[in-house]
Amino acid sequence: MEPILRLQDVSVNFSGLQALTKVTFNSHAGEVRAVIGPNGAGKTTLFNAISGYVGSTEGTIYFKGMPIHGLSPHEISIKGVRRTFQNGGLFPELTALENVLAGLHVQIDSSFLGIVMGLGEAREAEREGIARARRLLDLMDLGAIADQPVKDLSGGQQRMVEIVRTLATEPPLLLLDEPVVGLSPPMRDRMMEIIRRLAGEEGIGIMLIEHVIDLVMSGSDVIVVLSSGEVIAEGTPDEIRQNREVLEAYLGHA
Ligand SMILES: Nc1ncnc2c1ncn2[C@@H]1O[C@H](COP(=O)(O)OP(=O)(O)OP(=O)(O)O)[C@@H](O)[C@H]1O
Ligand SMILES: [Mg+2]
Repeated sequence: MEPILRLQDVSVNFSGLQALTKVTFNSHAGEVRAVIGPNGAGKTTLFNAISGYVGSTEGTIYFKGMPIHGLSPHEISIKGVRRTFQNGGLFPELTALENVLAGLHVQIDSSFLGIVMGLGEAREAEREGIARARRLLDLMDLGAIADQPVKDLSGGQQRMVEIVRTLATEPPLLLLDEPVVGLSPPMRDRMMEIIRRLAGEEGIGIMLIEHVIDLVMSGSDVIVVLSSGEVIAEGTPDEIRQNREVLEAYLGHA
């Protein structure tokens, strides 16, 4: 199967600081791929490089066989690589539902659709968008707060809303930067369950950055270990658990 994402020798240098060095790997549709590593290892920079937020990226990045390195974040997002940020990015005054719809409007622009399809069909598309957004919020147990302003929600609920907003567009590739930070343990489990379902049933390729090692071990198909900007290991949870270099460099014991 053609990989959904191919990274070849991806390097990032921030005026002298080598944040990533020749990162190379492929990821596939339907796969949950975790990126782990100590603070400052380059995990977020890797996501920034893939999604076009670092200008100084060297190497090549192919999404569905097409080069995306050098494109703007907006262009990359439109192609179907969607991401969340480590520190949110919701509209606090809007309701959870409205925030999710705002995410959908990356794809469904009703005025544009109105011109192309006629107003009736645009309204239909919008109705479908609202129904889909409500279904997703329900799935995350957020149905009851769908119509509350996001600023009134707990940190964990806001995080869930952000993720719902990102996945509402059913992107082929989803990059989640620390998706369970701030969630209670039951909500963490729920989130991982949903992530697994999105990969397994919808065939979405998911890459996630995660510090909670138990979740990574139980919830991912493949783990990439970064240390000082380099991939020091890539493999299944079982392989990573037994990797000596990883144990020494990252888990702090051998
Ligand atoms: N825009 C930037 N300009 C300069 N240096 C940066 C920039 N972004 C990241 N860095 C540096 O690059 C290195 C990697 O940072 P990055 O944020 O990718 O780490 P991380 O693995 O996501 O860490 P954490 O687990 O703390 O989120 C760090 O030394 C960081 O200070
Ligand atoms: Mg980070």
